[in-house]
Amino acid sequence: MQAGAMGFQLVRPDDAAAVAVLTDLGNAAQAVDDPESPAGTPELTAGWLRYGWDLEPDQRYLYRPSEDDDPVGVLNVGVPKRDNLHLVTGGITVHPDQRRQGHGSAMLAELLRQTRELGRRTVWLGCAADDDGAAAFLKQHGFSYASHDARRYQWPSKVDQDHVAALYAEARQAAADYEVVRTQVPTDDQLLAELIEVTAAINDAPMGELEFEPEKFDLQRLKDFEYAGQQKGERIYRIFARHRHTGVVGGHTVMMVQPSQPTFGNQYDTAVHRDHRGHRLGMLLKIEMMRWMADAEPQIERIETWNNADNSYMINVNEAIGYRLSRIFDSYQLAL
Ligand SMILES: CC(C)(COP(=O)(O)OP(=O)(O)OC[C@H]1O[C@@H](n2cnc3c(N)ncnc32)[C@H](O)[C@@H]1OP(=O)(O)O)[C@@H](O)C(=O)NCCC(=O)NCCS
Repeated sequence: MQAGAMGFQLVRPDDAAAVAVLTDLGNAAQAVDDPESPAGTPELTAGWLRYGWDLEPDQRYLYRPSEDDDPVGVLNVGVPKRDNLHLVTGGITVHPDQRRQGHGSAMLAELLRQTRELGRRTVWLGCAADDDGAAAFLKQHGFSYASHDARRYQWPSKVDQDHVAALYAEARQAAADYEVVRTQVPTDDQLLAELIEVTAAINDAPMGELEFEPEKFDLQRLKDFEYAGQQKGERIYRIFARHRHTGVVGGHTVMMVQPSQPTFGNQYDTAVHRDHRGHRLGMLLKIEMMRWMADAEPQIERIETWNNADNSYMINVNEAIGYRLSRIFDSYQLAL
């Protein structure tokens, strides 16, 4: 599936003009729909088109209702290839000045056409939970609410450091059997192999009613994630906890800073393997990361993190260390 149907132009990462239009369109919509998010840049867009999260980039299309029109919308098509072979994850964005003219519906029809052509049966689309218009659009097209995720921000300068220091001391004590180790990407293969199981522990996070099988992780996938990050220019920090007696890695947390947005940090996955829960490792790892970032990336003004909105354990940790709710986003699902 490359060219897309009439009116849909697949954007290639080396097509600078198309990448610029894609970025501008995304930013125009974001300024209206989600102004708290930092604006995109053509370099970031191209990096995501080329490498994605772990070398399975989404395809993104510019949509023109007719040949003479400027693009009015962007269609994202994500097709997991390592697992979840029943699934297509979509994204539909219509320029704010072009809404309620049927463009979103036309892009959705193309998404469903591609899904059928790929022989897949489940489609996910999402929207802000307080965006009644987008929810009406999705329901009108037969989608059902399936899950919700919460975005939180932490402003390091506003964090109550005394409170965090007390939590840190408590967690240190509860996790005295664990050694806490800092590493930076690229990770050598031997250590990366030891991190496969804790990475896969993210599969234990709640997913609501979404039809989803556990993601499959192996050494190559972890290498692909690190390679994709490096190629996008990201600085990726990881902290893991190793059980002192057995040597087993029980938990980890990952932070990313994109040099073109150096004041904005991304708190990526944090996971503790089920055999190692109950030792405050989640709290310990995240505070250790805050301490590291204060030294290594002192320019960070804001850190973003995402959790399933029902993941009360992780959310309680995040709230305790100063993360505050920004917004809830709903996931909708359609079974073909
Ligand atoms: C949601 C979105 C894609 C809709 O695009 P659109 O081009 O305006 O949608 P359409 O014109 O095809 O709308 C089809 C139907 O959906 C419903 N709908 C769409 N927007 C709506 C709104 N703001 N309020 C109420 N109903 C709405 C209506 O039933 C509409 O039919 P009608 O105009 O004849 O009443 C667009 O608003 C958008 O880009 N929002 C921001 C991004 C986003 O949240 N995307 C989530 C969906 S993946």
